[in-house]
Amino acid sequence: MCFVSYMPTLSGRARLAGILGWPVAHSRSPRLHGFWLERHRIDGAYVPLAVPPEQLGLGLRGLLACGFRGCNVTLPHKEAAYALCDTLSESARRVHAVNTLFFHNGRIHGNSTDGAGFIANLRDHGVNPAAGPALLLGAGGAARDIAAALLDEGAKVSVTNRTPERAEALARLLPGLAVIAWKDRAAALADQALLVNATSAGMADRPPLEIALSRASSSLVVADIVYVPLVTPLLAAARARGLATVGGLGMLLHQAVEGFAAWFDIVPAVDRELFEFVAQDLIPAKSRD
Ligand code: ATR
Repeated sequence: MCFVSYMPTLSGRARLAGILGWPVAHSRSPRLHGFWLERHRIDGAYVPLAVPPEQLGLGLRGLLACGFRGCNVTLPHKEAAYALCDTLSESARRVHAVNTLFFHNGRIHGNSTDGAGFIANLRDHGVNPAAGPALLLGAGGAARDIAAALLDEGAKVSVTNRTPERAEALARLLPGLAVIAWKDRAAALADQALLVNATSAGMADRPPLEIALSRASSSLVVADIVYVPLVTPLLAAARARGLATVGGLGMLLHQAVEGFAAWFDIVPAVDRELFEFVAQDLIPAKSRD
C-alpha cells in the first residue's frame, strides 16, 4: 500500500492542535491527524503532549496562551478537562466528560465525540443503530457516551456491567437505559439486534471478554470498541458463528473528524486509505514480516 508522502513545512502561521494524555505515547491520534494534514497539505501540526494530571489546568491554559486552536484529551484527563471548560456541548454535559476541546477568544469549549464516532462507524458498516434492541457491556467513560448516542438514535438500550453499581449509576444518568444483571448477559442476547463491547476486556495483553454467543440470534451484529488487536477475541468468536461484526478502529477515526474540521477548516474523510494507514501501526511487527 502506498501512502501520501510529502514533507510538510510549517510557516509562522501554522495552525496547532494536539492531544494531552498521561501517558500519551500509545495514542494513535497524532498518526491519524498527521495523515489528514499531509493529505490536505495543511500548514499545521498535531502534537502529542504528555501532561500529568496535576498539570492539566496549567497545560490547557498554556495551549490557549500559545494560540493553539484546540486539542484532544485522553486518559486520564477526560473528566478533569470537563470541569475546566468554559462552555460545553450537550453530549459533554450529559456524560460529564470531554475528548475534544476548541479554543476561542480565550475560552475553552468542550465536546464529547466518542458516541457520535461510534454511530458513524456503525453506519459505515451498513448497520442502522436503531434497527433493534442493543445490549451494551461496560459502564465506564466510553460506555456512557455510546449509551447516550444509541438512545438519541431511538434505540432501545440495555446496559450490563461486571460491577453492577456502575451500570445502575449510568442508568440514573440516562433516562430510558435499562439494566441487565451481568450473569444474565449471555441469555439476554436472544432478544438483541446489537451487542456492543464497551469494556476494556479483549485489549491486547488483557483477558478476553467472557461472554458465550450461543444464544445470539443469527442477525445479531457484534461491535467492539477495542481496536488493539483489530480483531478481538469477541469479534473472532462472532465471525466464527457467521455473525456480522464491527471493529473499533473506525470509531477512533470518526471521533476525530469534528476536531480536525474545527482546528484546520477542512472536513476530512474517513476512508480505506486512512484506515489502512492507522491499522498498519497496530499490527505487531512480527506479523508484518
Ligand atoms: P473507560 O473510561 O475507558 O471506559 P473505565 O472507566 O476503566 O474505562 O471502564 C472500563 C470498563 O471495562 C468497566 O465497565 C469495567 O468493568 P468494572 O466497572 O466492573 O470494572 C470493564 N472491564 C474491564 N475489564 C473487564 C473484564 N475483564 N470483564 C468485564 N468487564 C471488564
